[in-house]
Amino acid sequence: MGIFEIAHFLKPEELDEALRADVSAGLTSEPKTLPPKWFYDDRGSELFTEITRLEEYYPTRRERAILAARAGEIASVTGARTLVELGAGSGEKTRLLLDALDLETYVPVDVSDDYLLEAAEKIAAEYPELDVRPVAADYERHLSRIPGGPRKLVAFLGGTVGNMVPRERHRFLSAVRATLGPEDGLLLGADLVKDEKRLVRAYDDGQGVTAEFNRNVLRVINARLDADFVPEAFDHVAVWNAEDEWIEMRLRSRGRQEVRVGALDLTVRFADAEEMRTEISAKFRPERLESELEAAGYTLAEFWTDPDGDFSLTLARPQKDHD
Ligand code: SAH
Ligand code: AVI
Repeated sequence: MGIFEIAHFLKPEELDEALRADVSAGLTSEPKTLPPKWFYDDRGSELFTEITRLEEYYPTRRERAILAARAGEIASVTGARTLVELGAGSGEKTRLLLDALDLETYVPVDVSDDYLLEAAEKIAAEYPELDVRPVAADYERHLSRIPGGPRKLVAFLGGTVGNMVPRERHRFLSAVRATLGPEDGLLLGADLVKDEKRLVRAYDDGQGVTAEFNRNVLRVINARLDADFVPEAFDHVAVWNAEDEWIEMRLRSRGRQEVRVGALDLTVRFADAEEMRTEISAKFRPERLESELEAAGYTLAEFWTDPDGDFSLTLARPQKDHD
């Protein structure tokens, strides 16, 4: 029992290669975009944890309330012995599951490797009977290699599923489904559609923590790809896209500017007020969640919300006749 050495599926060369490919494609497209997974170096993970404590950012509190109310039920319905948590982050809310489930093994998976290891070490110290097997991996690429175990529950919490566009979500949910046996399950946290003002406030807090989190992607690119972004020369923007039902985070250029990305031998020009999308955070209606899960090979076993109906937690099982 205790902590296993971190399994590293992210070789530094591969990670750099993936970042180069994403940045090269994103900064040369029209409009420019950057994928959200690159927010999360150590500082980005810390900023996200800070966001989860903000008054405006309700999703973490609401999901915690659901977990606190339902952890016992999750334990009895799933009988889970293995918990695989994708995008585990600090694992703070996970403790509610670790307390309730009769687990042998906990496999936290995250792209932010140092932060993952630190969080896993804390959990291993608090739960000495548990095998803790941290895996530094990209859940969009390495799912089939992530270790499992008997009676597996895959948790994907926090509403992170909303950071994927529908096509990516379908591919991801189907790939998770392919790793599940008939007794296994998926526990999926998803934020729900609500009043626009509350949504925008949650992504544009008064202290500017989310703005710093947003700009952090530029710091990551500076450090890893020898770029010269001036993060303060970009304003944080959060808008509700009513058609797609998602929040968009963008960075808006203050004035015209030129940025050099040394490792790509690329010069990028920004027009005054040009906006670059850095994240979407989709909000769901229950019918949509159900139909997306069904299309990816699941049936709904349970669907819970917090008392205010802000956030949802779904327990899904693999469809029996799905190949
Ligand atoms: N589950 C936690 C953290 C959510 S933040 C919570 O509910 O509070 C999203 C987490 O997913 C971050 O820790 C980030 O590093 C991780 N992440 C983002 N994209 C990832 C990817 N492609 N593969 C693995 N982890 C990823
Ligand atoms: C990790 N993910 C669910 C967060 C969200 O709410 O979409 C990331 C975040 N972006 C800005 N604030 C929080």
